[in-house]
Amino acid sequence: MPPSAVTTGRVAMDFARPLCSSMAGSFISAVVMLDKRKSMGVWSLSVIPFPVPDAVALTLTKLFLFSFLVSSTVPTAKSELLTSKREKLSRFRVCVHDKISGTNATAATVAQASTTNQSATSFGLVRVFDDVLTVGPEMSSKKVGVVQGMLAFASQREVALLMSVTIMFTAGKYNGSGLTVVGKNLVSLKVKEMPIVGGTGLFRLAWDYVQISTYSLDFKNGLSVLTYDFSVYHY
Ligand SMILES: *[C@@H]1O[C@H](CO)[C@@H](O)[C@H](O)[C@H]1NC(C)=O
Ligand SMILES: *[C@@H]1O[C@H](CO)[C@@H](O)[C@H](O)[C@H]1NC(C)=O
Ligand SMILES: *[C@@H]1O[C@H](CO)[C@@H](O)[C@H](O)[C@H]1NC(C)=O
Repeated sequence: MPPSAVTTGRVAMDFARPLCSSMAGSFISAVVMLDKRKSMGVWSLSVIPFPVPDAVALTLTKLFLFSFLVSSTVPTAKSELLTSKREKLSRFRVCVHDKISGTNATAATVAQASTTNQSATSFGLVRVFDDVLTVGPEMSSKKVGVVQGMLAFASQREVALLMSVTIMFTAGKYNGSGLTVVGKNLVSLKVKEMPIVGGTGLFRLAWDYVQISTYSLDFKNGLSVLTYDFSVYHY
């Protein structure tokens, strides 16, 4: 277990105090960095011997130690999660139903540039979607969540999207938990890979990647079924 933030702060006070009095006129600073994944504290204490009046040095040191005490309490909640649980890897597949036109469309175009119609890559088009997440590729398959997000046609040379997506589970063992994915979707690729940048609930501090493929395309009804293959580290 790493020392608690308060204890750590007090240790700093205790060994900084004699230093302050023995080196009157020096400004003392300490830097603590916490590795966010391993919750390890790295200490470095530097003494900068430039002459400042005693009172100023003391005030500066007090101010610094106070701000250090305050800021050092911030990582505690995260550290507790990291030290009390073991990180594990989960892999699973879900299917996403995306309908861009016609009745019950799940996507809406919200903006486009004045040049988008002339662009071969639809550059400047922005779309918002609210898709259904199911276990299998059929619409009648068990619904386990929703996939909501935004995409922008962001390339002038290829059909490529900048996507920001939240996946929220509403059933099954991940009910109530969510994942956030942000990345580039190069449409011509058979398998699109995007980074998982975080999560909520059971997926707090989640990371790794998702691979997105097209399972089926129905141009007539504007309906596509996508598979999302998640590989996700979480606690
Ligand atoms: C649209 O949604 C309604 C309500 O869920 C449903 O009854 C209807 O069949 C749907 N229409 C199409 C074309 O999917
Ligand atoms: C672009 O094309 C769409 C559909 O054809 C049309 O509704 C829209 O008005 C056009 N926009 C511009 C800026 O020309
Ligand atoms: C998912 O969790 C919510 C909130 O706890 C609950 O109301 C709902 O019944 C759960 N759904 C399923 C399918 O378990």
